[in-house]
Amino acid sequence: MELHITTLSENTAGLGNFLGEWGLSILVETDGPNILFDTGQSISASHNADILGIDLSQIDKIVLSHGHFDHTGGLRQVLRRIGKEIEIIAHPDMWQAKYATREGEDRYIGIPFQRQELESLGARFNLTTESVRLTDNIMTTGEVPMVTDYEEIEPYLVVKEDAGFKPDKLLDDQALIINTEPGLVVILGCAHHGIINTLYHAQQLTGVKTIDTVLGGCHLMDASEERVWLTIAALKEIGVQRLGVSHCTGLPASAIMAQEFGDKFFFNNAGTILSL
Ligand SMILES: [Fe+2]
Ligand SMILES: [Fe+2]
Repeated sequence: MELHITTLSENTAGLGNFLGEWGLSILVETDGPNILFDTGQSISASHNADILGIDLSQIDKIVLSHGHFDHTGGLRQVLRRIGKEIEIIAHPDMWQAKYATREGEDRYIGIPFQRQELESLGARFNLTTESVRLTDNIMTTGEVPMVTDYEEIEPYLVVKEDAGFKPDKLLDDQALIINTEPGLVVILGCAHHGIINTLYHAQQLTGVKTIDTVLGGCHLMDASEERVWLTIAALKEIGVQRLGVSHCTGLPASAIMAQEFGDKFFFNNAGTILSL
């Protein structure tokens, strides 16, 4: 299987006239379908695709990791450029009214579009809590069970309901799994349910224990140092061969991981291309 994994949008622009933007969008090109995992926050994914000479109309499916604006906010622009009906695989909770309540401020951080607008641009939502198989080798995780005792969702992430705010369980949080010759490649959006929980679930779903590459948002930016070290110990035990961190991993956790993983570690920024 020929496979190219291109990070179209990330907080940091890795190449010349790229745009950097808080968020994430990763394109998976195969000899079968081309899959866009998340869409960044606004226009950076399509801007950077243009610079790379990537034709977004060649995308066959979109997978959304969760409903937060920095992963779904590029949908309008991307759908315009795709220019045809396209299946979008996501969890039904992506439509929840997601907020961050921090420092006395309630900030809306959910999807910035109405479903109807996106459907008028060609979006065909396939909303499910389950893992979806996209090809023989590629699947979504669906809901990720939280089994480790050190991974948790930050209490400031909430959902607005009539009765007020309640904790966001982020059941919509999911990753993309690619089964390759050397092992699994797991692409994380934000990993709100925890990287290690996500990797354990990927192993269970596929029956493959070897995890070759982990890529994407590791959401350790608010994690305690203890959690960072427990995460690193688990990554080593799993035997991850390549760790490309993005987006919400945070500098302190990234610095420790860089030290611990040496040349297995890299920053996965806008413009990073992995060919397998
Ligand atoms: Fe994010
Ligand atoms: Fe998020």
